[in-house]
Amino acid sequence: MSYETILLDKREAVGIITLNRPKAMNALNNQLMDELTAALRDLEGDDEIGCILITGSDKAFAAGADIKQMADKSYRDVFMEDFISANWEEASRVRKPIIAAVAGYALGGGCELAMMCDFIIAADTAKFGQPEITIGVIPGAGGTQRLTRFIGKSKAMDMVLTGRHMDAAEALASGLVARVVPADDLLDVALDAAEKIAGFSRPAVMIAKESVNRAYETTLNEGMRFERRVFHSLFAFEDQSEGMAAFIEKRRPQFKNR
Ligand code: HXC
Repeated sequence: MSYETILLDKREAVGIITLNRPKAMNALNNQLMDELTAALRDLEGDDEIGCILITGSDKAFAAGADIKQMADKSYRDVFMEDFISANWEEASRVRKPIIAAVAGYALGGGCELAMMCDFIIAADTAKFGQPEITIGVIPGAGGTQRLTRFIGKSKAMDMVLTGRHMDAAEALASGLVARVVPADDLLDVALDAAEKIAGFSRPAVMIAKESVNRAYETTLNEGMRFERRVFHSLFAFEDQSEGMAAFIEKRRPQFKNR
C-alpha cells in the first residue's frame, strides 16, 4: 500500500512511521489516521518487526486533530460516525511495543497519540499540550484520562483547563516522557531503544507490555496475580531457557524471535 500522509520504513526489525503533513503541522486528518491504522496493522502482522517507532518532523510530532476537517461537523455527524473511535485507537491495540519520538509540537490529538504509545522519548524542543479548551471543546482521544494517569490530577487539570503548553523539561519532571535528548539525537536514540527491544525475546516483550498496561486496569493484588501467571507462562517459550543458558555460558542469547 502506498501512503500520502505518512512514511513507512522498515529498518531490520524496527518499523518506523513518520507522520508527514508538513504544511499542516502534521494535523491528524481522517486520511492520516486511516493510513496510520493500516501501517500499524502491517507492522503488527509482519514477523520481521519487533518494535515500532512513531515520529513526526522537527517542528511537529502532530498539532492535533485537523481543526479544518472538524470545524463544520454537527452533533449528528460526530455521534453517527462515533468520531473518533473508528480510526484513532489502533496504536493502543497493537501488541508490539511502540515508541513515540517527539520533536516540536505534540498538541491535542498529537499528545493523545503520543500517550497511546508505550513510552515517549522527547527532543529538547518538544512541547506538549491539550489546547482543545481554547477552541471550545475538550480532549476526545484520551487526553483527560491518559494524561491524568501520567502526570496526576493537579497538573492534568492545569493543562486541560488552561490549554497551556508544557516544555520537554517539565514533561520529563512530570513523568509524561521517559527521556529528553538533544533534538539532533532524537531519532538515533529512539532507534537504538527500538532495536534493543526488537532484539529481545518477542513473547517476553509483548507479555511485559501487556503486564505493565494491566497496572492501569486493575487493583494491585489482581495485577500481581496477573503478573505471576504471565511470568510463569514465559517458561513455556524456548527463549527462557536460551536466555538463561546464555547468561550462564557467558554468551549472547539467540532468541527465536518469531
Ligand atoms: C489543522 C493546523 C492545525 C490543526 C496547525 N495547522 N495546527 N491545521 N488542524 N490542528 C495548520 C495551520 O492552520 C497553518 O496552516 C499551518 O498548519 C501552520 O500553522 P501555524 O499556526 O501558522 O504555525 P505556528 O504559528 O508556528 O503555530 C503552530 C501551532 C498552531 C502552535 C501548532 O498551529 C496551533 O496552535 N495549532 C492548533 C493546535 C490545537 O489547537 N490542537 C488541538 C486540536 S483539537 P495555513 O494553511 O494557515 O498555513 C484536537 C482534538 C482531538 O486535537 C480530539 C480527538 C479527535
